[in-house]
Amino acid sequence: MCGIVGYIGARPAVPILLEGLEKLEYRGYDSAGVAVCDGKELRVVKKEGKLTVLKEEMAGTDLPGTVGIGHTRWATHGRPSDINSHPHWDCRGRIAVVHNGIIENYLELKEELLAKGHKFASETDTEVIPHLIEEYYNGDIVEAVRQTVARLHGSYALVVLCEDEPDKLVAARKDSPLVVGLGEGEYFLASDIPAILGHTRRTYILEDGEMVVVNREGVLITDAAGNPVEREVFEVKWDAVAAEKGGYPHFMLKEIHEQPRALRDTLSGRLKEDGRVNLAELEPVADRLACLQRMYIVACGTAYHAGVVGKYVIEKMARLPVEVDIASEFRYRDPILGPEDLLVVISQSGETADTLAALREAKKRGATVVAVTNVVGSSVSREADAVLYTWAGPEIAVASTKAYTTQLLLMFLLALQLAEIRGRTTPECGEIVEAIHRLPAAVEAVLSREEEIKAVADDYCRSCASTFFIGRGLDYAVAMEGALKLKEISYIHAEAYAAGELKHGTLALIEEGVPVIALATQPDLFEKTLSNIKEVKARAARVLALAVEGNRDIEKEADRVFYLPALHPLVLPVVTVVPLQLLAYYAAVARGCDVDKPRNLAKSVTVE
Ligand code: G6P
Repeated sequence: MCGIVGYIGARPAVPILLEGLEKLEYRGYDSAGVAVCDGKELRVVKKEGKLTVLKEEMAGTDLPGTVGIGHTRWATHGRPSDINSHPHWDCRGRIAVVHNGIIENYLELKEELLAKGHKFASETDTEVIPHLIEEYYNGDIVEAVRQTVARLHGSYALVVLCEDEPDKLVAARKDSPLVVGLGEGEYFLASDIPAILGHTRRTYILEDGEMVVVNREGVLITDAAGNPVEREVFEVKWDAVAAEKGGYPHFMLKEIHEQPRALRDTLSGRLKEDGRVNLAELEPVADRLACLQRMYIVACGTAYHAGVVGKYVIEKMARLPVEVDIASEFRYRDPILGPEDLLVVISQSGETADTLAALREAKKRGATVVAVTNVVGSSVSREADAVLYTWAGPEIAVASTKAYTTQLLLMFLLALQLAEIRGRTTPECGEIVEAIHRLPAAVEAVLSREEEIKAVADDYCRSCASTFFIGRGLDYAVAMEGALKLKEISYIHAEAYAAGELKHGTLALIEEGVPVIALATQPDLFEKTLSNIKEVKARAARVLALAVEGNRDIEKEADRVFYLPALHPLVLPVVTVVPLQLLAYYAAVARGCDVDKPRNLAKSVTVE
């Protein structure tokens, strides 16, 4: 998983490439590099470390040229190092390649190329690509790339720059995203739209198996065999500033604050005036929904946690059994799945390799697939039978926030829609619809008390080593997400536990001063959770409780209480998670962590 860019036009390439890479650092940031050609000579600069390290390295050097490629890396094959960074080149240093993905048959190809006398410099899978191109090169770089990609197994988005033909860039994709930006006499290539949005809104989104040749006169998209492909221009509607920090110190904080807007957008047009749900996007699978016996929800990370909430609410409202699974587990456990089943995949990026593989496995077995994703044109959106978009806008911070809450919203809407289809609509559904309308304002109310959470984060998390998040039912589902947020950005060990299960082992870890974040928002489970709070208090834990306004009993047990606006309990997860997002954020800031780019992680995981 990495980010790639390319530029060809009349302007110096380096600043454009670096600016594009900056926007793609969310895809990986352990090393970066560029290759530029001035018409005569191809030159490469690449460095281990974040993009800033590369920029410092390049500060004094003049790298002329109006065509170039760039890369920001997240290591898979070969540890982060200067030499393993991209671009990689052939034996003569005349063909440079940037690649996002994994070449699964690289060892076999490498052996073949070594036997032919090729010299390799890195430990990467990618390096076989420039050497293979060199092998096939006969004065026609397009043809050489075509023959090369035909030999590759695995996933790739790649861009090639050749010193002997410096007036073009050649690119190809399979299972990794690639877009072409259309300027005036200049063209851009990138893994994602934010990288080119500063220059153009007009794009082509490449499909799997396609190649593209870009020169200063235009763009030619072809299929694998070289036949031209007609593609409609995709006009990007969102603003360049939407992909910037907009005055916040970190993307994560900005995205936490964008949640009311993201919820409103995601809700827009999906509830009719009479209060009924209008998920028109489900039309292609309407027949299937009418006779469902069971449903699966499959996802990774935060999206999986949204799926756990989805299971609760769909089972409760639509009385339909739902299995929820982690994509990397689901695909290898020979799931019992057939044409009568529905699989819902949830993926912010729509490119997560495990989720995509689960989707494909389900389709292979004849199941119907609905995708919940934030990225229009993403792989899951293209391969699913129906798509429900979360209109959260681009999410840049690695730690997912607004994608999660909008995914939850779609779970509620899906639950209501299924309840209607299955004849399970009750007066409570009307109350839920009403509560859904109030969600954006409720989130705003919590955000207005950000300082309270900041104080708790300083007090509880600045120097602690381990924390526990406990809750029952939906609160347990949200506890999982709260713990993940804290772990991924503050590096504090955090464990989510079903509150009633604590006594079966984990209670042994509770000792004096250990922070316990207790979620007690669900009225029917409140008394039980209160007992669990007493259990940890008896072992001298420090308890921060999250409870609904007016529920004063909890103050007797917890050290601190953060009150949430009173709303129907089924939709409360959207509100409950917000203080937990802020807690993680301020804990990470207090501990001096790199909030938007936590160590070892990446936003979009396009490898298994
Ligand atoms: C990565 C990200 C997580 C995200 C997960 C699933 O691990 O760091 O924040 O939840 O991938 O991503 P997806 O794009 O499929 O929702």
